[in-house]
Amino acid sequence: KITPVILSGGAGTRLWPMSRTMRPKQLLSLTDDRSMLQLTAARTSDAAHFSPPLVVANAAHADEIERQLVNIGAPADALILEPTGRNTAPAIALAALAVPPETILLVMPSDHVIADVAAFHRAVTTALPLVEQGWMATFGIAPDAPETGYGYIREGAEIAPGAHKVDRFVEKPDLATAQSYLADGRYVWNGGIFMFRAGAYLAALRRFAPDIASATGAAMAAADRDGARIHPDKIAFTASPADSIDYAVMEKADQVAVVPVEMGWSDVGSWDALHAITGPDDAGNCHQGEVIALDTNNCLIRSDGPLVAAVGVSDLIVVATGDAVLVLPRGASQDVRRIVDELKRLR
Ligand code: GDD
Ligand code: MG
Repeated sequence: KITPVILSGGAGTRLWPMSRTMRPKQLLSLTDDRSMLQLTAARTSDAAHFSPPLVVANAAHADEIERQLVNIGAPADALILEPTGRNTAPAIALAALAVPPETILLVMPSDHVIADVAAFHRAVTTALPLVEQGWMATFGIAPDAPETGYGYIREGAEIAPGAHKVDRFVEKPDLATAQSYLADGRYVWNGGIFMFRAGAYLAALRRFAPDIASATGAAMAAADRDGARIHPDKIAFTASPADSIDYAVMEKADQVAVVPVEMGWSDVGSWDALHAITGPDDAGNCHQGEVIALDTNNCLIRSDGPLVAAVGVSDLIVVATGDAVLVLPRGASQDVRRIVDELKRLR
């Protein structure tokens, strides 16, 4: 069986004002009645193939995560609670250290949409024999824009049906480089999902990021356990360098495979992305919550607070919560980061 590892540490600041420190993107219901975390857990809830998940999260979110998982009948096997964020390389190490080394881990972000779950399962099945042989597997998404927020993977030779050796892994290239990769045609985006034996990941970490390996090892050796909750030792964990699995391990490791997969993947990185995913109606609108919109076109209007009424506007994003309202033109939703930065500066 495969052990899912769900990473729930990000903030998702580009979805402000819905996403907040205490309610990050993965805990919100953005595309469905269920939250992104619940959708992620449901994707691997088939007990014939998957064990109950390990969830690695910020300790401040423990109660809400537990509540959401119990609510869909998919409680975590263990909730590994970080005293502070150190990015994904240490977070994944904590999970790998909590299980026997031969355990096969499927590491998943908690904040992505996968529309075609059957295709996702087929890709996992394709990767499985390679992972059993010691490979670390990634999943490749066909790129359609020179996005600079993703990892890029150059596919090498086919090493098993439907799987290629990774020739090169480049995390978050600059725009010119991303454009050249898109034109090259041999590159796919890294989907942010990884599969490997716990021991294979820890061996790569010891080789390429020994400080992270030793700090997380010490943190888990001195961890406090309280039922399903595991609290790694705070001082030891805080001493770990902060780095992502992509920079710390994947760019450097050699036995890495990629399984290209078309599964309706989106990382829901912005309000514009959400507008595209949630299927706009004939007038190009997608509204949610208490919204009245007359003669509006190509707008995304959401409220989980007051009634929002709009008339005669187009190409707008309006998001209202109990204490904040965001208004910006469609296409500019990456700029929400600037608002969040400004708020931090003011407070
Ligand atoms: N537990 C924990 N602790 N989880 C974390 C932490 C942490 O410190 N930091 C991030 N995460 C979680 C996030 O919540 C998200 O679900 C996942 O790990 C990935 O982190 P991101 O910060 O969203 O990474 P990214 O989007 O910049 O890049 C990654 O994903 C891209 C695809 O969306 C990389 O793997 C890229 O190569 C990839 O293309
Ligand atoms: Mg992300």
